[in-house]
Amino acid sequence: MINSVLPVYKRADIQFVRGEGCNLFTADGTRYLDFVAGIAVCAFGHANPRLIKALTEQANKVWIVSNMFVVPGQQRVAEKLKQVSFADTVFFTNSGVEAWECGVKIIRRHFWGKGQPERNRIIVAQGLFHGRTIAAISAAKTPKMCDGFGPLVDGFDQVPFNDIEALEKAITPQTGAIHFETVQGEGGITPATTAYLKAARALCDKHGLLLFLDEIQCGMGRTGTLWAYEQAGVKPDVMCIAKSLGGGFPVGACLATEAAAAEMTVGSHGTTYGGNPLAMAVAEEVLNMITEPGVLAHVNTVSAYADFKFRQLMQEFPTLIKDVRGKGLMLGLQLTEEYADMHRLLLKHKLIGAGAGKDVLRFVPPLTVREAEIDEAVEKTRAACQERLHERH
Ligand SMILES: Cc1ncc(COP(=O)(O)O)c(C=O)c1O
Repeated sequence: MINSVLPVYKRADIQFVRGEGCNLFTADGTRYLDFVAGIAVCAFGHANPRLIKALTEQANKVWIVSNMFVVPGQQRVAEKLKQVSFADTVFFTNSGVEAWECGVKIIRRHFWGKGQPERNRIIVAQGLFHGRTIAAISAAKTPKMCDGFGPLVDGFDQVPFNDIEALEKAITPQTGAIHFETVQGEGGITPATTAYLKAARALCDKHGLLLFLDEIQCGMGRTGTLWAYEQAGVKPDVMCIAKSLGGGFPVGACLATEAAAAEMTVGSHGTTYGGNPLAMAVAEEVLNMITEPGVLAHVNTVSAYADFKFRQLMQEFPTLIKDVRGKGLMLGLQLTEEYADMHRLLLKHKLIGAGAGKDVLRFVPPLTVREAEIDEAVEKTRAACQERLHERH
């Protein structure tokens, strides 16, 4: 008989009942070191007292009022996002893929409004992951995500990631935007090179296209700057964010310049729950916290330490770890084999990691992770590596 929860996930048979900082606990008190944090979500760890306070204070006031009214907090969060990014305007959603889909709609509508409705195609990158709606899987085009779900949505042209020549060649009179994750997450923790970001921006300027970035996983401080695009000295026209924006509470946002979003008039888009008062209360506090002095500096210090430590481990286990990659606290260990066995052994040693691509072990801990916790994660990974080598022999 089918599981009463739709069985689309291969779940580990572990239930966590409590979280604190970088730790998760099962009912019998067993502690796991959580270096996944809800997949790059809990930027300030589990059960952060400031976020609990923000959420519960709002919960005692009002939960939902509908976007027919001015929603408590929405304006403030939007203003704050404007202050700290390229954006002039923000649409709030409940998830990453909804923010992404809003970006796609902004782009199509932009060119429709300019009298160029034929420019409805978006150049996307191989290895992408933007979510699981029909449009998002249509952009991904992989059999794993798409089989059986047709008809898919037309309008996405894939090019190899980080290949400037291929990007330039792919532009046609039907192209409206260039789009990619500033650091690919699910695909295998692959940063866009600075040259690629700069070239994408230049090509957009040259051809009148919009640059649309997905920073759902890599944004909100994870790479050591608030937005990963900052490190290349370029700005997008549209960007979707989510995950760490809510620090564990579901919220996403699509950010855009005034020019890009000019055609998003009353009635052109909407949501029941997006930008609800609970989500706004938490997002506001997350933004307050992340922009406090020292937070991003900590990400840079601690991620450099993690990079150093995991590189040492790579030298210790060259037949198992091929490469250490990523940016900031978006860390990938590329293995010499598929990640499943190492992932299983990490869990056995009470370290939570995630896979990415085929052969990458991903660590995306809370931004507040401490050096001692990095040391513990390295020790647990070392133990898992030793065990894996035994298994192999
Ligand atoms: C880069 C990126 N885009 C989009 C998404 C989709 O976000 P959500 O699962 O909240 O819809 C994810 C989720 O992993 C992601 O990593």
